[in-house]
Amino acid sequence: MRDKLLQLEKAAFEEVASVKGKEAVLELKNKYLGRKGELAALTKELGKFPPEERPIIGELINRIRGSIEERIQSLLTALLQNEREEKLKAEKIDVTLPGRYIPLGKRHPVTQVMDEVIRIFSGMGFEIAEGPEVETDYYNFEALNMPKDHPARDMQDTFYISADALLRTHTSPVQIRVMKEQKPPLRVIAPGKVYRRDSDVTHTPMFHQVEGFMVDEAITFGDLKGVLSAFLHSLFREDMAIRFRPSFFPFTEPSAEVDIQCVMCSGKGCRVCKGSGWLEILGAGMIHPMVFKAVEYDAEKFTGFAFGLGIERIAMLKFGIDDIRLFFENDVRFLKQF
Ligand code: PHE
Repeated sequence: MRDKLLQLEKAAFEEVASVKGKEAVLELKNKYLGRKGELAALTKELGKFPPEERPIIGELINRIRGSIEERIQSLLTALLQNEREEKLKAEKIDVTLPGRYIPLGKRHPVTQVMDEVIRIFSGMGFEIAEGPEVETDYYNFEALNMPKDHPARDMQDTFYISADALLRTHTSPVQIRVMKEQKPPLRVIAPGKVYRRDSDVTHTPMFHQVEGFMVDEAITFGDLKGVLSAFLHSLFREDMAIRFRPSFFPFTEPSAEVDIQCVMCSGKGCRVCKGSGWLEILGAGMIHPMVFKAVEYDAEKFTGFAFGLGIERIAMLKFGIDDIRLFFENDVRFLKQF
């Protein structure tokens, strides 16, 4: 019996030494130490021995059980440890790897310039108003001192929707809408889309304007010059040369066009400024008494100035873009640059 037990121990040790994998180890544990295992089978034979020998054999059985158990246990512990290490290795995060690239969108250059213009005028106390893009003949022309058959209607070729409805050709109708609603003093800008039948490198059928106007008692042409100079200096450069040139709009009198020194050649004369050294940047003037009449303001009491500027034109000059159509082709390679 003693030999049998020692042999069993030896066989168990040998198997434990060469066993691979957790499953196999558990199987082995069952084979030797299980309730129907080999050691249990030998234990059952204990009854065959004389009572005085039983404790000695029993002790041997216990020792062998203990030693096999110990080896299997340490094997299991090692396996578990291994498993944990494998898992840690597999789940390891390299915090020094560069992060995943998330492409960031950018504001459209037209929006950027629009926001900048709005920011500057807001800083001077101007409020923002909006009007519809589908306008009536009255707001777009009539109330702005352009009666039917007035030749100035041809200055901007119009998209008509019906005899009376049209796509606004400028943001000036917002002047009329605001003045009909509110009383002076007024300091308002009106940004938005406008439409004209025109298409070439400097014209698109839709583009953006910002209208601005100020109405109160005793507003003068000096106020117009001051506000627009401050605006242009803030938008371009503090030392940018500016000039006011007489012009004509039916809804302002006197009217002016404002030029800035050419941003491409600094006034020396180039292709962009057609050799003049100047770039026309906006139209402006003192609000015509006929406009005040249309909105029922007392033209003896109130005066005001108004101006309108094209956002795409400013964006082209600021960013050095020579074809306005690029703004609306939505080529990501172009848009990414701003
Ligand atoms: N509405 C004019 C245009 O689109 C610009 C302008 C606005 C001129 C206000 C004078 C005063 O050309």
